[in-house]
Amino acid sequence: MTKEQSPLRLGIAGLGTVGIGVVKIVEDNATVLAARAGRPIVITAVSARDRSRNRGADLSAYVWHDNAVDLALDDSVDLVVELMGGSDGPAYALAKACLKAGKPFVTANKALVATHGKELATLAEDSHAALRFEAAVAGGIPIVKALTEGLSANNISGLHGILNGTCNYILTRMEHERLPFDEVLADAQRIGYAEADPTFDIDGIDTAHKTAILAAIAFGMAPDLENLPTEGIRNIVPVDIEYARELGYRIKLLGVARQADGGVEVRVHPAMVPLSSPLAKVMDATNAVMVTGDHVGPTGYEGAGAGAGPTASAVVADIVDVARGVWYPPFGVPAATLGAPAQLGADNHIGTYYIRLKVADVPGVMADITRALAENTVSIESMLQRGHADDGGVYIVLTTHETTEEAANAALNHFNALECVLESPAMLRIEAA
Ligand code: HSE
Repeated sequence: MTKEQSPLRLGIAGLGTVGIGVVKIVEDNATVLAARAGRPIVITAVSARDRSRNRGADLSAYVWHDNAVDLALDDSVDLVVELMGGSDGPAYALAKACLKAGKPFVTANKALVATHGKELATLAEDSHAALRFEAAVAGGIPIVKALTEGLSANNISGLHGILNGTCNYILTRMEHERLPFDEVLADAQRIGYAEADPTFDIDGIDTAHKTAILAAIAFGMAPDLENLPTEGIRNIVPVDIEYARELGYRIKLLGVARQADGGVEVRVHPAMVPLSSPLAKVMDATNAVMVTGDHVGPTGYEGAGAGAGPTASAVVADIVDVARGVWYPPFGVPAATLGAPAQLGADNHIGTYYIRLKVADVPGVMADITRALAENTVSIESMLQRGHADDGGVYIVLTTHETTEEAANAALNHFNALECVLESPAMLRIEAA
């Protein structure tokens, strides 16, 4: 057997649903994987916290390590697959141990890559070990590969992604069943859809991890969570979903990275997207990403963003690449060059906005509102007044022409100071995704 035909031996750290999904693909699809990789792919070792748990797969043939970091030192392991999660702790220690030792490292861990991406990429480049993380972003959708390889001829002007299935599922049910956020979240937790602690999903942190990674590849910047403005969907209320529809939009939690004057805007927030846009049609737990390149134009990718099969599919695709001998810098450009361009803060964003105000239904209110907008140089595109709120107030809903986020926020502060404004206004960015 030549070196190329000798098996690639895997050590898997983390045997949750995705870990077992990887075991199943490697076992069930052994023949096709060997044909595509040019050599067999086998599992030799595993690691997880609880040895006795029934995982629905026979793991008795594999060496068991109680300490995952030992996989980096195990000579029977050629490549380590990390599926434990967490930005620090064992996952980070294992990544560093593998890459320093020149051992290929494949992970689904977006928090790890978004937090330590540049450092890990540097280690990988120094030892010429593969560091691959297709499964970290949008589960089964090959968006990392699309950006790193398929679109490498292009300057990317921007990308927009629905990258969190839990949020998209909650927004879909809020719209279809006209239910408040808390009720849908509680139901999603009851049926085991959302985590008991759903913070990472609903507060946009999971989307921020994924967006930081995509921005790094698309624009050659280091993943930078600290300067990534992040808002989740907790404050979305059914009335905004209904007004969005009336105005021709749907509310989606978006990860956005786009070229702007002076740098790249990277941000995560709920936004109103036109009903005609492909992203508006993405419902339930599905993920989707739109990427525009200067020569290819707009491209779109859609599929399952989570779950054992889709996530394991992405993990195994990375393994096949390593078995084939594919290597390139983890973010597509040398780690030393990651850093520029500047990641711009939200205040620099120029866009259009939806604003909903609850106001007292008395003479002069419209004049107060239009004056507040004019004094902050915000121009109105459309404005409507709707019904009677239960407590005697009415809703004024308006959309703006293009303005800076700074000006839109200044107008909101002005509204808050007006006596006729009965509660804190709602504002959503309108994104021509
Ligand atoms: N919790 C994520 C989601 C899946 O709901 O999409 C893993 O990234």
